Amino acid sequence: MQKLAAGNWKMNGLAASLAEIEALATAHPTPGCDILICPPATLLSRVSDAALGTSVQTGAQDCHPKDSGAHTGDISAAMVRDAGGAFVIVGHSERRADHGEDDALVRAKAEAAHDAGLIAIVCVGETLEQREAGRTLEVVGGQVAGSLPDDATAEDTVIAYEPVWAIGTGKVPTTDEIALVHADIRARLTARFGADGEGMRIIYGGSVKASNAAEIFAVPNVDGALVGGASLKAADFGGIVDAL
Ligand code: G3P
Repeated sequence: MQKLAAGNWKMNGLAASLAEIEALATAHPTPGCDILICPPATLLSRVSDAALGTSVQTGAQDCHPKDSGAHTGDISAAMVRDAGGAFVIVGHSERRADHGEDDALVRAKAEAAHDAGLIAIVCVGETLEQREAGRTLEVVGGQVAGSLPDDATAEDTVIAYEPVWAIGTGKVPTTDEIALVHADIRARLTARFGADGEGMRIIYGGSVKASNAAEIFAVPNVDGALVGGASLKAADFGGIVDAL
């Protein structure tokens, strides 16, 4: 399967950041993987225009489950598509924590993404407290079960495993720990979706950098990365793309 290097700019990026898209595309005109940048909604249109005809694809960091209506401040999946996006991240732990998003809402967002023709990147991951209580597989398995639509396919869905305690902290699970969780997710996906579950990409996120990317990508069932801080500069993100 084609691996995926996805950048999540979170609440970072102004017009000056558009230069990073050109730099990334110039350095990787024909990458051996899918390259994705998810800028803040304010920049999606301009980033998509800058990426047109290059190796870089674009997406959003969230969408509303409904198509349109009285939802001040929200954006729909159709709007993401209209702005040039092909992907949308749903259920990121920062949205689960900051906005109280639960599995049912994440699933509804993934369904809306699919209806609009977008690929949904569905995020799951345990907190440090849950890991220390030995509940990692139970928590992640529950999120996978509850957050994915029944008709998810290998083409329209990506799972991002992001241990909450590894995000932006510089702490990364061992490769054995990553392998264990990814293998468990793979088994659950295959049991539920058959061949589609075998082909669904499972990417890792949490303090991925150019210096640790190759080691993480060598782990079985790791099909790419969802990268925060190290995706903001083309030079840093390019090193991760090179490692895939
Ligand atoms: O969605 C990506 C993310 O949460 C990981 O962030 O900064 O640890 O790479 P970071």
